[in-house]
Amino acid sequence: MASQPPTSFPKDQIKILLLENIHQSAVTLFKAEGFQVESVSTALKEKELVEKIRDAHVIGIRSKTQLRDLPLSEGKRLLAVGAFCIGTNQIDLDSANKRGVPVFNAPFSNTRSVAELMISEIIALSRQLGDRSSEVHQGIWKKVATGSWEVRGKTLGIVGYGHIGSQIGIIAEMLGMTVLFYDRVTKLPLGNNKPMATLPDLLANSDFVTLHVPETPQTKNMIGEDELALMKKGSYLLNASRGTVVVIPALAAAIKRGHLAGAAIDVFPEEPEANGEGFKTELQGLPNVILTPHVGGSTSEAQESIGREVATSLIRYINQGTTTGAVNFPHVDLPTEPGRITHRILNVHKNVPGVLRDINNIVSNRNANIEAQVLATDSNIGYLIMDLGQDVSEDVKLGIASLPNSIKTRILY
Ligand code: NAI
Repeated sequence: MASQPPTSFPKDQIKILLLENIHQSAVTLFKAEGFQVESVSTALKEKELVEKIRDAHVIGIRSKTQLRDLPLSEGKRLLAVGAFCIGTNQIDLDSANKRGVPVFNAPFSNTRSVAELMISEIIALSRQLGDRSSEVHQGIWKKVATGSWEVRGKTLGIVGYGHIGSQIGIIAEMLGMTVLFYDRVTKLPLGNNKPMATLPDLLANSDFVTLHVPETPQTKNMIGEDELALMKKGSYLLNASRGTVVVIPALAAAIKRGHLAGAAIDVFPEEPEANGEGFKTELQGLPNVILTPHVGGSTSEAQESIGREVATSLIRYINQGTTTGAVNFPHVDLPTEPGRITHRILNVHKNVPGVLRDINNIVSNRNANIEAQVLATDSNIGYLIMDLGQDVSEDVKLGIASLPNSIKTRILY
């Protein structure tokens, strides 16, 4: 029988690499756990990333770091990835999954911030606020009521009724708007929000159309010339989802010919990697067009909350193996029972027939008693958490780790 390991895997040897100026709320939580934290204020290019990732047990990024297969393949010690943002397109999720590395993001942390920005922009577009403000900045006094409207009684069409879309729907109703929504899947309508059967139905019936879909092959160029033509004359388009969803030249043309009365655009097909001058879009200089640099979710509250949410998920994974909320991994959560003295084995394996049988053989050959066991799979991998008596766990772990289909095996004392 294997001798018992003297201590737990020392927490102070766990290295957390945080890129892109991740909020202090995350650093505080990691440090409180006793982990080593290295914070870098910028994104890293692939060459530097490959160097840095070799040492890291966890890497935390935001939207600018491209975490593709090459850096992931070099992260031999990597246990998990934290996406301190909402979108995860910048990460090769499939590669991480096959390497046994769960990716955690913060799906709700900036929902409210985006929703509030959209509400403010709906009113700002309706009152041509951007134009009036820049005129006064230039010394031009142009007090007009023509083309200015209250939003009360107008119809808002929401495309993508997820976290953000549904939150906007609720707030817009409080302003007296009628709310329609269109989603790819059936969603419970909140308040008096009304589902529309098709996108054309929504476009034809809305005074304001706001987009809140993710970036997918289906949403690429979702709003182009044909869709803009379906929108009411004098209506407005808002996009704070992803830049690829709207065909910008078609939008510019619809505004120039007066079909649309304005637009608020926060996201662009190509966005600069760093702050600075020289950004160009065909929408610049057009009337009643509010342009913002992808700031929909950028508030202090959201940053603080993202830091806390993702760090908490990562800590639960490191300490307990819980993968609830991971975007690319089977979800497993096995509560620890207070007072029970067990060791926990975490195993990620290829999802092929016979793996669980092999694992259970290893356990029974050592006369070990399984106190608790949970397994979940996806098409590539299986993820198993198993609690065992302390006397045999190290031996069982070595046996499981040496199975040909095992990808990653960890033991928690
Ligand atoms: P979510 O996943 O909760 O909602 C997305 C909704 O779109 C879902 O209900 C989904 O069923 C629906 N959908 C997907 N494909 C569709 C299609 N082809 N047609 C119609 N509906 C479709 O996401 P959440 O949190 O509401 O965020 C939406 C998007 O907003 C994110 O994917 C992200 O790209 C963007 N975002 C932008 C921010 C900014 O700073 N501008 C900040 C946060 C998110």
